[in-house]
Amino acid sequence: MQGLVLGAGSGIGQAMVLEAWKRPPEREEGWLLSTRRGEALSVLEAQAGTRQLAWKAANALEAPGPWLENLDAGDWRPRLVLVAWGRLVPGGAGDADELELMREVNGPATLRWVEALCQWLKPVSAAPGGLPLAIGSPVAHIAVLGSVAGDRPRRLQWEYSLSKQELERGLNDLRRRHPHVRIVLVKPGPVATPMTAHMKPGPLMAHPAQVAPRLWRAWEEGWPQVYAPVWWGWISRILSLVPEKLWERFPF
Ligand SMILES: NC(=O)c1ccc[n+]([C@@H]2O[C@H](COP(=O)([O-])OP(=O)(O)OC[C@H]3O[C@@H](n4cnc5c(N)ncnc54)[C@H](OP(=O)(O)O)[C@@H]3O)[C@@H](O)[C@H]2O)c1
Repeated sequence: MQGLVLGAGSGIGQAMVLEAWKRPPEREEGWLLSTRRGEALSVLEAQAGTRQLAWKAANALEAPGPWLENLDAGDWRPRLVLVAWGRLVPGGAGDADELELMREVNGPATLRWVEALCQWLKPVSAAPGGLPLAIGSPVAHIAVLGSVAGDRPRRLQWEYSLSKQELERGLNDLRRRHPHVRIVLVKPGPVATPMTAHMKPGPLMAHPAQVAPRLWRAWEEGWPQVYAPVWWGWISRILSLVPEKLWERFPF
């Protein structure tokens, strides 16, 4: 197996990589891991076994095309790609610039990267019109971290929810236009990571290790969307039934 992880420093991203590495390594298995500063992460290095790791700096706000072109990867292409970065302004209480940055990173910037990845992963045998010759067998799986917050915007996380909605809409479009990759949107509920350090732990707060197997299963079974943990899908469905007038009064 070959993997590329954008935002490997993320709490959920790291858990996902460790979940993938529970499988025995294949020969010549290589993983390209990116963090914002390009530093290697000791937790992952210690668990890599015989896998070959390379580290590279990547910022969601930079142009993905040149980044991919400069990889000097030759024919190397990952079979699994995880886009795990993201931002949250706690309580939606940042200034306009912070909120705009959050929206840009979670929405348009991530979509630009996924689109560039789809192009980069296109098989060389693709027909001139862009359709891959082997329709039905994806060349790679891309998992992107959305959020259950994107299902219905909440008063206190308005901008964050909108950014994840924008991401979901964009991915639906990319999925349609790039059938040679299988794009999975992962929608976690609250997970205990540095992003939620400001929140009180409660029964609905999951551990990253609970999210990771869901991502893995989605990859294996090719679901277009998956909630993590699974019960967030049921909660979200129930919340969608709350009338708008009542929803507006919810204190979260
Ligand atoms: N935790 C939750 O409750 C939860 C729930 C639903 C969805 N999610 C989503 O899951 C994803 C991962 O979040 P997490 O909980 O694992 O949070 P996290 O541990 O705080 O990780 C966020 C990561 O995003 C990186 N990042 C932020 N801005 C970036 C940029 N401009 N370019 C590149 N990397 C950038 C951060 O890098 P630095 O370390 O360099 O800052 C960090 O590694 C996010 O998309 C988040 O929205 C999280």
